Amino acid sequence: MKNKEKWPLSPSMESTQHISLKKQYALFIDGKWVAPNSGKYFPSINPADESHIADISHANEKDVDLAVRAARKAFPSWSGLAPSERAKYLFRIARIMQEKSRELAVIETLDGGKPIRESRDIDVPLACNHFFYYAGWADKLAYAFPNRQVEPLGVAGQIIPWNFPLLMAAWKIAPALATGNTVVLKPAETTSLTALKLAEIIEEAGLPKGVVNIITGFGDTGSALVNHPDINKIAFTGSTNVGKIIQRAIAGTGKKATLELGGKSANIIFDDAPIDQAVEGIVNGIFFNQGHVCCAGSRLFVQENIADKVIRKLKLRMKSLYVGNPLDKNTDIGAINSKEQLKTIESYISIGKKEGAEIYQPACDLPKKGFYCLPTLFLHVAQSHTVVQEEIFGPVLTIQTFRTIDEVIQKANNTPYGLAAGVWTDKGSRIFNLTTKLKAGVVWANTYNKFDPTSPFGGYKESGFGREGGIHGLAAYVKLS
Ligand code: NAI
Ligand code: MG
Repeated sequence: MKNKEKWPLSPSMESTQHISLKKQYALFIDGKWVAPNSGKYFPSINPADESHIADISHANEKDVDLAVRAARKAFPSWSGLAPSERAKYLFRIARIMQEKSRELAVIETLDGGKPIRESRDIDVPLACNHFFYYAGWADKLAYAFPNRQVEPLGVAGQIIPWNFPLLMAAWKIAPALATGNTVVLKPAETTSLTALKLAEIIEEAGLPKGVVNIITGFGDTGSALVNHPDINKIAFTGSTNVGKIIQRAIAGTGKKATLELGGKSANIIFDDAPIDQAVEGIVNGIFFNQGHVCCAGSRLFVQENIADKVIRKLKLRMKSLYVGNPLDKNTDIGAINSKEQLKTIESYISIGKKEGAEIYQPACDLPKKGFYCLPTLFLHVAQSHTVVQEEIFGPVLTIQTFRTIDEVIQKANNTPYGLAAGVWTDKGSRIFNLTTKLKAGVVWANTYNKFDPTSPFGGYKESGFGREGGIHGLAAYVKLS
């Protein structure tokens, strides 16, 4: 990559030197880098300044077929390998990822717009941990499923979104390989680069050819993968709309699926909560990764008697958030992932205003180039407002107040989604009460957005079905008898 940096860099700016990127990326099929049959490429854009980073292959049906065939051909020997040998490959991938962690973090930030602090401290280490964790399970499946016969499913088609590109790739690939499946993975079109770097790492780790195939492209590529007759399992993370399309496409085919879809999660603050800690939890819940988080705490519920105090502290805290260049180590809110996503968020903000909600945004200069959005609050919203019901997937929080626990449970559950929730209170009994009554796959108590490979993750209702992470993540890739 051309180095356009002006030296010396400001001390808080992460350097992009020593990052190795190709100008053009082929598809990773059967252990080789192959040009797409379509002959088509599309640009990967840095959303922070709209610069062109690299050209990415647009895989068509024929490319998808080649990738699925390669994965099928690799399946018998991979699934037949001693589990402890499979584990060694996964450990090796994890260790090479660790060695390249700085490079991976910088590329993740360049390609997707997330603050370098998050790529470096959260995304990349967690992605490594997924490989380490599932490596540990590979030869212990008999303990995960006592007295059961455990068989891999076969070829897994995996389609991932753009909000946690490398982490989602690891999250999908590691349990599939540990259980003896082979994989065809398609990253999202705006963030293909770290998945392609992972393909290079997989190559370096010497994984047998065809065990992991990485094909890039758009929705048509994903659709060809879903509809390929020789896929045994689809693992998808993305929008609820596409999740529904996939469900319809595989109906009656016998293909297994896990779908991890959208959310509109409630973050609930009771009057006995540690207020300053809760305010940090609210900020983290909605502004982490620009709010591009399926489990973002996008609906805040504050007990009425402390609402003024919480909102005052929240506004003050929002004034201190730095929105800007994602490579700056001081940046709290980076770039919105794409122009399209920025348009979506902006249209929700104007709908919120039209519907009569009160808006708050701190005064702050946004960079002139690139896709940026101010942290935004909507106050005085009604349960029926669009901004309360629909997933915005940006740094936009709605605030509602409540008096009683029954009222807040009813409101928190009253959306089509059920992915996550946060509860802030000093009272243990209240936490237990809420964890059973909130229809959410994950309920965090006095914290938010805590992830770990050992914990299952997944939704209720339109947030999807199936669980990933922990032992549940293994179960999603095996047939038990
Ligand atoms: P999307 O669901 O279209 O994209 C996710 C992945 O699915 C990408 O790899 C895409 O290429 C692929 N895809 C698209 N159409 C497909 C099809 N017909 N068959 C198979 N694969 C297909 O999400 P998009 O359009 O990028 O974002 C739109 C909204 O979706 C966001 O505003 C957000 O609300 C939600 N979203 C939720 C995510 C989550 O983690 N829950 C992640 C990404 C988006
Ligand atoms: Mg990009």
